[in-house]
Amino acid sequence: MTLPSTIGEFERVAQESLAPGPLAYYDGGACDELTLADNLAAWRRLAIRPRMLVGVAERDCSTTLLGREREHPLIVAPMAFQAMAAPEGERATARAAAATATPFCLSTLATVGVQELAAAAPDATRWFQLYVFRDRGVTRELVAAAGEHGYEALVVTVDLPVFGVRDSLLRTGWTVDPELAVPSASAAGTRGPIGPAEVSELIDPSLDWSDIERFVAETDLPVVLKGILTAEDARRAAACGVAAIVVSNHGGRQLDTVLSGADALPAVVEEVSAQLDVLVDGGIRRGTDVLKALALGASAVLVGRPLLWGLAVAGEQGARRVLELLLGELDVALALAGAPNARELDASWLMPAPWASH
Ligand code: FNR
Repeated sequence: MTLPSTIGEFERVAQESLAPGPLAYYDGGACDELTLADNLAAWRRLAIRPRMLVGVAERDCSTTLLGREREHPLIVAPMAFQAMAAPEGERATARAAAATATPFCLSTLATVGVQELAAAAPDATRWFQLYVFRDRGVTRELVAAAGEHGYEALVVTVDLPVFGVRDSLLRTGWTVDPELAVPSASAAGTRGPIGPAEVSELIDPSLDWSDIERFVAETDLPVVLKGILTAEDARRAAACGVAAIVVSNHGGRQLDTVLSGADALPAVVEEVSAQLDVLVDGGIRRGTDVLKALALGASAVLVGRPLLWGLAVAGEQGARRVLELLLGELDVALALAGAPNARELDASWLMPAPWASH
């Protein structure tokens, strides 16, 4: 099979091949999808100010993340229910991540268990994303399993106390095919098809900062908070002792008209980047988007939907190709922007794009 040669083409082919329900779940956003659209537009509102004649024969896009050296700044974002895209689901995505030295973050709502995924992709750098369930016993078991099976970070998602309003899901009546296993939900006693109502039923909406302090104190894994959008919350996160935060609006799927990660990033970086790693996600589709995130002070970026498109089109090979395309583009962007060492990037590489209307 000839694989698509651009991420845009992966998106088009995936949209043709996925059934309406899963497509709505994967691609859709909240309400009028204004934030969903702005996640992409925000990177495009930035123009690059390139430097010439700096010698770019050797390029280095390595970064330091949670105290460890990484070859490059991409991470596979946690995304639920990946077996709807391809039978191998998360196993395939994690192998694609391993093949490209990309950390893979497993969702709590994965269609594979924590231990099974570790066995299926032993070479992947694995992080575990935690939704704190009302059932704290199951929550503790999930965290313990992540620790036992070599996951290197606990990514606590804080922007889904309840499931967002997603018109496309209401329209299609999407639920996860009951044939597909969702081990965490089964452990918490969910029976029958899982849809938005069941997800809301599982997740504890009373979660607050005292829980985060407790997680940091109780787990040996570095705690990453995902879903922070303001400097105020970033300061609180730092005070709790978390190792990193992900500036994120959940891919435009939760609160519509909330600001983009790209627009939220500078204030958060200014507030806390001396104390912890700041990561960002939402709308990363090009190597130039990654370059801009790094220039704004992010240590790394999470990539979401493009991996699902890769998975839907060609399983592990497709997901791998998506990551390779992004990495190839990043390398070219670094060369052409005159930043052969990505660590040198700063805000002086950027300016408001003259073509963007504000
Ligand atoms: C997500 N996201 C998500 N986040 C999380 O913390 N736990 C999860 O289970 C999920 N599930 C999920 C499913 C699907 C289909 C999508 C598209 C997204 C959010 C995800 O981690 C990330 O924040 C966004 O996807 C980033 O935006 P892009 O790259 O998709 O634009």
